[in-house]
Amino acid sequence: MQDPKLRDQLVALAEQCREQAHAPWSGLLVGAAVLTRDGRMHGGCNVESAAFPLGGCAERHAIAAAVLAGGPGIEVVAVAIAARDNRGRLLAVPPCGGCRQLIREFGSQAEVGWRDAAGTCNWHAIGHLLPEAFEMPPE
Ligand code: THU
Repeated sequence: MQDPKLRDQLVALAEQCREQAHAPWSGLLVGAAVLTRDGRMHGGCNVESAAFPLGGCAERHAIAAAVLAGGPGIEVVAVAIAARDNRGRLLAVPPCGGCRQLIREFGSQAEVGWRDAAGTCNWHAIGHLLPEAFEMPPE
């Protein structure tokens, strides 16, 4: 997905989702937006719990929204991530290992973008971010 306009829209949606983040414990507010093969975009934000392990990442929640809308056969084409601290400062947040796994399972060719501290979004192939990924062995 090389289209700069679509990329900008995806980053804008991720930023909009970040405004909804619930991160009272870490102070790290994350939004994510997913573009699927059918051209639709879906968003998610991180949601933390006082019982820490129960919280979840923005990227995984965005993929859950995409699956809810499009079913388990969706293909993820691109994922944008937007993060700020609780003072509103831009933070460069690449996807965690667990989210890389899930992104790859729904889009082996997906591109993943996150902004640097200056606000420029850089894009990376998921195959580069998670080489030699785990796959369920065939029965
Ligand atoms: N977080 C994300 O939302 N995505 C990532 O890829 C990395 C981490 C969130 C989870 C948690 O709410 C906070 O950032 C600190 O780990």
